[in-house]
Amino acid sequence: MKPTDTPPKTYRVKSFGCQMNVYDGERMGELLNEKGFSQAPDGEDADLVVLNTCHIREKAAEKIYSDIGRLTKGKTQKKAPMIAVAGCVAQAEGEEIMSRAPSVSMVVGPQAYHRLPDMLDKAVKGERATDTDMPAIAKFDSLPARKKRFPTAFLTVQEGCDKFCTYCVVPYTRGSEISRPFGDLVDEAMRIVDNGAREITLLGQNVNAWSGDDAKGRSIGLDGLIRELAKIPDLHRIRYTTSHPNDFTPGLVACHGEVEKLMPYLHLPVQSGNDRVLKAMNRQHTAESYLRLLEEVRAARPDIALSGDFIVGFPGETEAEFKDTLSLVDEVGYAQAYSFKYSPRPGTPAATMDNQIAKEVMDDRLQRLQERLNRNQKAFNASKAGQNCTVLVERKGKFENQWLGKSPWLQSVWFEGDVTIGDLVEVNLVEAGPNSLEGALREVAAI
Ligand code: SAH
Ligand code: SF4
Ligand code: F3S
Repeated sequence: MKPTDTPPKTYRVKSFGCQMNVYDGERMGELLNEKGFSQAPDGEDADLVVLNTCHIREKAAEKIYSDIGRLTKGKTQKKAPMIAVAGCVAQAEGEEIMSRAPSVSMVVGPQAYHRLPDMLDKAVKGERATDTDMPAIAKFDSLPARKKRFPTAFLTVQEGCDKFCTYCVVPYTRGSEISRPFGDLVDEAMRIVDNGAREITLLGQNVNAWSGDDAKGRSIGLDGLIRELAKIPDLHRIRYTTSHPNDFTPGLVACHGEVEKLMPYLHLPVQSGNDRVLKAMNRQHTAESYLRLLEEVRAARPDIALSGDFIVGFPGETEAEFKDTLSLVDEVGYAQAYSFKYSPRPGTPAATMDNQIAKEVMDDRLQRLQERLNRNQKAFNASKAGQNCTVLVERKGKFENQWLGKSPWLQSVWFEGDVTIGDLVEVNLVEAGPNSLEGALREVAAI
C-alpha cells in the first residue's frame, strides 16, 4: 500500500449488528473527532470509512466483502476512501480480510479500537495494520469524554460472554465477561445526562451479569447499579439489554417493581420452547424455568412489555419441538420479538452437528413463528389503546408538527403538537397499529 499524499480529514462510521456496536461506533467517532477529523455530512464522500461489522449470522458477515467492493469501485461514493474494518468480523476474520481485500488499510477488533488513531498514523504512511487484542478495560480508560447530545443514549456496562451457546460466535468475538467499574459508569452516565440525555440504555452481551463494588465498597449487581443511576435527577428513564435468564437475580426482579425510572420493558431471549433443543443449544435453562422467571417479573411489574429472541431450525429440531416454541410464544404474549433462521457459524459446536435443517423447512418455520409473534405484538399494542402514558420525544415526524417518541413499553408513538426533542410528554394513545401507536398530546412535563 502506498503512502497517502492527502491525509484523510472526514470520516463515516457504519455500524451493523447489535446496540453494542452502535455504542462502539459512536465512541470511534468521538476518537476521530479528537484526532481532528470531522464526520462527513450525509450524502457527501468521506475520506475514511469505518465498517463496524457483525459476525452473528452468515449474511451479516458476508455483507462486509460486498460493502468493501462497492466502496473500492466508487459505487458508494465518487472517490474510494481509506477503509477500516472494525467490529466482530474484524475480530473473527482479521487475517482473511487483509488477504481477501487489499484495499482495506486497518482491521481493528471490538476491544482494540481505542488504538485506531495510532493505526491511522501508520495507514497514512502506507502501512496496513491489524489489532485484535482483547484488553477490554484499557479500551474504556483511553477513550475521550462523551460529548454527544441526544435524548436517548447507550452506555456499555458489561462486555463479553462466558455462556458458549453452541450456535453463537459472541464468546469468541467479544471475549470473556467483564464488568466496567461502578465509578466509571456513574461518571459516564452523569456526563451523558449533562449533555442532554433523558434516557439511558445499559448495554452488555449479558448485561445482567454485571457486578461491581459501589462507592462504599459493597459488592452489587445490575440492580444496585440501576438504583444508583436512578438517583441522577435529570435522568428520567433507564433500560437495559440483553439479559440471560440464568443471571437474573431476585434483586433485579424487585427493581422492576420498585424503581420508577426503570421502564416496564424486558428483553429476555429464550431461543426455543423445547427442552431438548435448549439443552443442545447449551442454554442452561428450561422452558419452564424461563416461564417461571417471567411470572416473577410480571408479579413485580404487571404491565411489563416482554421481548425475546428465537432461533428456528437449530440442528435436529423436529416439527413437534418447533411447535413447543409456538406454544411458549402464546403462553408469554410478547410485546415484541426478534426471530432468526439458524445460521451455522464457523468454529461453533452446532455448525458440525448432525441433522442440519433444510432451508425450506427453516423458511416455513420462521414464517409461522413470525405470524404468531406479530399477532402477539398487535394484541399488546391494542391493549394499550385508550390509555395515557408518557412519551420521550426523539425526533420529528414526516409531517408538519408531527413528532415521534417511545412509550414506556418501547412502542413507537407519533402525535402532533408544539414540543421539542427531549421533552417528556403525556399523551393519550388513541389508536394502535401493528408497529406504532397514534397519540394525542395532553401535556408537556416541566423537566
Ligand atoms: N447475548 C444475547 C444476544 C446474542 S446475539 C443473548 O444471549 O440473548 C442476538 C441473537 O442472535 C441471539 O439471541 C440469537 O437469537 C441470535 N443468534 C445468535 N447466533 C445465531 C446463529 N448462529 N444463527 C441464528 N441466530 C443466531
Ligand atoms: Fe451468544 Fe449465548 Fe452468549 Fe447470548 S448467552 S451472547 S446467545 S453465547
Ligand atoms: Fe454482531 Fe458482534 Fe453484536 S457478532 S450481534 S456485533 S456482539
